[in-house]
Amino acid sequence: MSRPSGAIPHHIAVVMDGNGRWATRRFLPRVAGHKQGVESLRRCVKACAARGVGVLTVFAFSSENWNRPADEVSGLMELMVMALGREVPRLLEDGVRLHFVGARGGLSEKIANGIAKAEQATAHNTKLVLNVCFNYGGRWDIAHAAQQLALKGEPITEESLNRALALAHVPDPDLFIRTGGEQRLSNFLLWQSAYSELFFSDRLWPEFDEAALDEAIAAFHGRERRFGKTSAQLAPPGARAQEAA
Ligand code: FPP
Repeated sequence: MSRPSGAIPHHIAVVMDGNGRWATRRFLPRVAGHKQGVESLRRCVKACAARGVGVLTVFAFSSENWNRPADEVSGLMELMVMALGREVPRLLEDGVRLHFVGARGGLSEKIANGIAKAEQATAHNTKLVLNVCFNYGGRWDIAHAAQQLALKGEPITEESLNRALALAHVPDPDLFIRTGGEQRLSNFLLWQSAYSELFFSDRLWPEFDEAALDEAIAAFHGRERRFGKTSAQLAPPGARAQEAA
């Protein structure tokens, strides 16, 4: 028997894949797809806030994305500068707290300053935490956390690593969505997604709308989250007595 996984997932993580294909199919440069991806992200943030999601974590630029063609990398960096300038007032209106996650080294001063300003400007917001993973990789996160602990001479345990990881300020994702039809994690939240429910959508990210989000949330509701236990252990005592009768 499948039992509902509670109400709305508190934390949703998203690999926003498919921008390049969305643009190529329209004979546009790939960066046009990323631009449309920002629009889709804005729609998703609003939809999550409206549904009572507490944390949205998105993969905007991976440690490996530096290996893309130079014009695409510079296009993504320019887009980030533009988005930082343009989106903050909207985030303030919607009560969204912005948090950047990833290595700051290697980012231009303009981006690093823009990130610091945007984080500061939205720091008092409480409706939704938006974690933007930028220059981020799951392996980088784990190695970086272990290095921090080693430098301080602290023992490496699950608890101490948890505290040193880049998403220590939020609970682990309940629902992990990847758009674009591929079914892999691509080095996103490797540690934190240990017990996330996975949902793969064939929609390209620019086409991931409210209905697609609701489809993912409905799939989440149908999952039984056992966290290593058995189904019987999860049943409330009343239901167990009924099953035994
Ligand atoms: C993956 O699609 C997407 C990215 C590498 C970038 C995601 C970025 C955004 C949605 C914009 C927000 C971020 C910034 C920088 C402001 P892909 O390019 O791999 O698509 P494909 O698989 O179709 O080629």
